[in-house]
Amino acid sequence: MSEHHVYPVPESFKDAHITPERYEQMYRQSIDEPEIFFGNLAQEFLSWDTSWNTVCRYDFPKGEAEWFSGASLNISVNCIDRHLPERANQTALLWEGDDPSESQHITYAELKDEVSQLANALIARGVTKGDRVCIYMPMIPQAAYAMLACARIGAVHSVVFGGFSPEALKDRILDSDCQTVITADEGLRGGKRVPLKANVDKALAACPNVHTCLVVKRTGSDVDWSEGRDVWYEEFVASQSIDCAPVSVAAEDPLFILYTSGSTGKPKGVLHTSAGYLLQAAATFKYVFDYRDGEVFWCTADVGWVTGHSYIVYGPLANGATSLMFEGVPTYPDASRCWEVIDKHKVSIFYTAPTAIRALHVQGDEPVKRTSRASLRLLGTVGEPINPEAWEWYYKVVGDSRCPIVDTWWQTETGAHMITPLPGAHALKPGSASFPFFGVELALLNEDGSEIEGEGAGYLVVKRSWPSQIRSVYGDHQRLIDTYFSTYKGYYFTGDGAMRDADGYYWITGRVDDVLNVSGHRMGTAEVESALVLHEGIAEAAVVGFPHDIKGQGIYAYVTPMAGVEKSDALFKELIDLCVAEIGPIAKPDIIQWAPALPKTRSGKIMRRILRKIAENELDSLGDTSTLADPSVVENLIQERPQT
Ligand code: WT7
Repeated sequence: MSEHHVYPVPESFKDAHITPERYEQMYRQSIDEPEIFFGNLAQEFLSWDTSWNTVCRYDFPKGEAEWFSGASLNISVNCIDRHLPERANQTALLWEGDDPSESQHITYAELKDEVSQLANALIARGVTKGDRVCIYMPMIPQAAYAMLACARIGAVHSVVFGGFSPEALKDRILDSDCQTVITADEGLRGGKRVPLKANVDKALAACPNVHTCLVVKRTGSDVDWSEGRDVWYEEFVASQSIDCAPVSVAAEDPLFILYTSGSTGKPKGVLHTSAGYLLQAAATFKYVFDYRDGEVFWCTADVGWVTGHSYIVYGPLANGATSLMFEGVPTYPDASRCWEVIDKHKVSIFYTAPTAIRALHVQGDEPVKRTSRASLRLLGTVGEPINPEAWEWYYKVVGDSRCPIVDTWWQTETGAHMITPLPGAHALKPGSASFPFFGVELALLNEDGSEIEGEGAGYLVVKRSWPSQIRSVYGDHQRLIDTYFSTYKGYYFTGDGAMRDADGYYWITGRVDDVLNVSGHRMGTAEVESALVLHEGIAEAAVVGFPHDIKGQGIYAYVTPMAGVEKSDALFKELIDLCVAEIGPIAKPDIIQWAPALPKTRSGKIMRRILRKIAENELDSLGDTSTLADPSVVENLIQERPQT
């Protein structure tokens, strides 16, 4: 923990939406009188068709939560139609292409037409309320149209990141029985093409229930065509009416499913519902980013992750903001790209991941300094702990020591920000996610489940429901209970460790389970292990994380070949290819160490703690090795450890 520097609220944020006094008063009320606080917030931020009976009712041990039950609304109306009287001609989505010469402004009026036409196209293909629609798209406006079109008719979207493999896509389509897929011929990232339609074709070979695949023409390349199932987006959507009556849904009707990795088994379909999710996405967007009317907000995430859902689409649009959507990558054509885009579109607020900041930091200051960035007012980070060095560079070089940084802690399961500084209310400590958002009541627990008071470190848990809480694991409610509500009774268990300092600031220390965070992407070690052992030459595999300068965590795989199998370069490559095929390029191991055997207890349990230490190169602190069945296994792994 770096306590070197504290950055006070700058003069320019003294008139922020949330001042220190307002934070104290609003936080207090959100905890002491949640019905009043959230009732007011819901009136202020959302437009309702009918009002609620109860603000909140929840039962953690049963994994149940209901917000605004009895109320109804439509999410696309909240994100589009209701803004039309004042904002019809304001840019809603500002799209910046992979190629720096391509960009497009989509106004709120145009957004309404696009979304309505697509919604009508879905209806024409038989999609109705409650049906699941898979969205496997590049970062183009149609990805946002697709999400909002589902919301308009009460269909449930399941966005699958375009970097996932056909195999991973297939699993996700089948798990939630999506019968409609929306995709593009190809994606374009950093000048490279991504064969999305070809991936969908491979996945759909095993998905007989999919009746419709809508295909956006992005690059115009040749694609295979399944007559009857495949439909060109442009032609079909353009032929639809621009009027589509929004379907009023219940506050607790599902809005989307988003798959995320856990420590065991296949990825879980995190289910979010409508009103509570949108309320917290909207309120955090306005308060955490101190958003002012007319500003351009840029979140660099992909819509395939929750960050893209909440802070490219739902949060900004619910506030009538201008949201920049970027198709490319931060280093293409070169390391100045982000800063050039900021100048080009006069971006006020820039929100990205620590891994991107580190990757740009190593390129030096020059690519930043050759741009102006005068429009920037606020910076943000998300996805993993930020090391104070990266924070300081972001602050001093990118933000010219003028822009506060909000380090936002949250999860796919929390739907929106949970712990974050508010730029007008809190002095910043580099590396600390700082304080709970309104309505978020936290605790740190000891191993035995007792609460830590004051300063200390422990397991991070949440003590009460919040509006954008995960409602279920799609198709497996018991798994929700087992994963989040069973470890510590009466709490939501985050899977993270954290520390609270003497000033009450929270510092997230990282996952305490077998979940990796590789370049801000969440991955279960079990998923990578399952991919590796699919190889017939492999007997066993154990995967752990290790510190990586750019990625935050790298993937370190210990692999035991079958007797007689040669540990060749060819085998090495086949294993990497398997991870890419089963999961996607983000799951490529950084290091594969051949392990004649894995360290196990006498009862046969793999001692991951020791494997982690070896991967981290912390060979002096292996800890207690007395329960090892065969200590020589560890000696061998240490001797054979590849240089990193
Ligand atoms: C995990 C959730 C939430 C959007 C992106 C990731 C880690 C997230 C921070 C932060 C330290 C963070 C946690 C968390 N994490 N934000 N500001 N500081 N760690 O969503 O894929 O669901 O991953 O990301 O470990 O549990 P996700």
